[in-house]
Amino acid sequence: MPIQAQFKPTAVPGIPQPPERIKKIRWKIAVMSGKGGVGKTTVAVNIAAELSRRGYSVGIFDSDITGPNVPKALGMLKVPIYASGDSIIPAEGPNGIKVISMGLMIREGDPVIWRGPLKNKFIQEVLNSVEWGDLDWLVVDLPPGTGDEPLSVMQLIPLDGVVIVTTPQEVALMDVRRAVHMARKMDVKVLGIVENMSYLRCPNGDIVRIFGSNGGKKLAEEENVPFLAEVPMDPEVAKLTDLGIPVALNRPDSEVGKAFQEIVDKILEQLGAAHGKDGEQS
Ligand SMILES: Nc1ncnc2c1ncn2[C@@H]1O[C@H](COP(=O)(O)OP(=O)(O)OP(=O)(O)O)[C@@H](O)[C@H]1O
Ligand SMILES: [Mg+2]
Repeated sequence: MPIQAQFKPTAVPGIPQPPERIKKIRWKIAVMSGKGGVGKTTVAVNIAAELSRRGYSVGIFDSDITGPNVPKALGMLKVPIYASGDSIIPAEGPNGIKVISMGLMIREGDPVIWRGPLKNKFIQEVLNSVEWGDLDWLVVDLPPGTGDEPLSVMQLIPLDGVVIVTTPQEVALMDVRRAVHMARKMDVKVLGIVENMSYLRCPNGDIVRIFGSNGGKKLAEEENVPFLAEVPMDPEVAKLTDLGIPVALNRPDSEVGKAFQEIVDKILEQLGAAHGKDGEQS
């Protein structure tokens, strides 16, 4: 039997059941990719922003411990996290989005130099201690790759699914395929693939596909998972993200804003949540 066929990540002994506080959140999804810098954090933050725009209560858990970018992307670098008794209270960002991130617990620029076991312990402790309150959605932003943090998150949170982000290049797709396979091996549903930085729209309306064409769509077909949307490369997105302003909230009518609406529509559809927060047609 080929060695790959035998490989199945197994639960680390001693890892407890999902914390009660997590179990009561209605929908829990994670955003991952085998590759760095493809836009996971941008996608996670904007999915959360779009869900909050539709009236859902939303939390984001930034599980990227050594490169926590969610607070910056939500303009929250100076927002503190408080403790109450033995609970951690999430910080509140735009539209009431609740955020837990290592980036809110350390000073800007301070490095976190931790090995895998400590990262796992941190994720476990945080998930046990955070009082999220009544949340409809928890969106988890994962660091690049298929290492410690994705494994811990998939073991500790009963995820409803993962969104996988890629860019169109071959090299990205190769790594992203690993993320699809990891989710499968962990029995987590792949909600679909987002192709980020798919094209650049010129001022005259023409489209330039800088990194190639349809890589994300082809991967989705080959892996038999849904294709969620193409998100164009837009200098405005990079600028607004640096300023901590999520495009989905502030430019919902832009091409990128609409792409995030398409992504969220498809996620809601797949999770049977398409009828809105209170069961009404959204
Ligand atoms: N569609 C887009 N158009 C323009 N810029 C984008 C787009 N998506 C992401 N970016 C920019 O690309 C950079 C990387 O994005 P992001 O931090 O979301 O990637 P990531 O996959 O989370 O990275 P990491 O692997 O380091 O966690 C950021 O500066 C972000 O603003
Ligand atoms: Mg990131």
